[in-house]
Amino acid sequence: MGKCRIISSVVVVAGLIVVAVLLAVIFWPLKPTFIARCKEFKGYDCEKMWGTFEQAYVGRDPRTVPTEAYDPFIAAADFSADPNKLMFWSKTNKVVHDFTEKKKGCFLTLEDTVLGYMLNGLTWCGKEGSTITFRSFACPGMEEKNAVDSFWNRVSAAFADAACGDVTAMLNGDIATPFNPNSIFASIEVKRFDSSRVKSLNVVLVTEKSAVTNCTNASLKDLQKELKPGIQYYCKEVTEAHIQECSSNPEIACGACW
Ligand SMILES: *[C@@H]1O[C@H](CO)[C@@H](O)[C@H](O)[C@H]1NC(C)=O
Ligand SMILES: *[C@@H]1O[C@H](CO)[C@@H](O)[C@H](O)[C@H]1NC(C)=O
Repeated sequence: MGKCRIISSVVVVAGLIVVAVLLAVIFWPLKPTFIARCKEFKGYDCEKMWGTFEQAYVGRDPRTVPTEAYDPFIAAADFSADPNKLMFWSKTNKVVHDFTEKKKGCFLTLEDTVLGYMLNGLTWCGKEGSTITFRSFACPGMEEKNAVDSFWNRVSAAFADAACGDVTAMLNGDIATPFNPNSIFASIEVKRFDSSRVKSLNVVLVTEKSAVTNCTNASLKDLQKELKPGIQYYCKEVTEAHIQECSSNPEIACGACW
């Protein structure tokens, strides 16, 4: 075999591997991941949960999935929150999940609950006339009513509806507008806090050494205005280093990190 033959067969094999990986990424079934994650929660019929989830988008044009399509999933999840435990966040993905992961049982973000856990980090969609769940590249971009965004908008609303007692929100003090009107927190969650259930909203403004903003920022004044009368508002600036230090210290009680 000449050198060229060897190189060309290497190219063919590499090409086949790339194609196989792409096909696996697109058609790798979502269901086993969903079921395995669902089983980490007690008391759910995970097959039924999958059924209520899948019916929202399977066989539909992936650009026209309304948020209400996930109502049966919300009903099956039947989520109710322990008072004082819910943790909302915006632009603090890493620090907030690192915190709830290390300080287990203290606070729950949406992604730690049955509403968000199974689908966290995944992409999915359906296609008209098909019974298959497609993944990743096979799904069109981020059109307004795509299956993934509609899901997160719907579960965020359900999560906010469940909030009661003292509610916490980790916002980012290293960006100009910590309370961004386009965020899910501002456009969906805050609007749904029920003043007969929620006593207070405690904003933890997470900052690096060189904080861009602080609790006096005008966007946070807008946040206070959004809250229904009767819900108390507090804001505290806390450095990320302090949160990390505190979450690694098992001696410190829940909520005593700020
Ligand atoms: C908060 O930020 C504003 C504007 O950036 C600044 O003028 C003010 O001194 C800061 N307040 C505190 C308490 O750091
Ligand atoms: C504070 O909030 C306003 C409006 O909500 C924003 O435009 C402004 O840039 C923010 N940040 C700082 C650092 O002043």
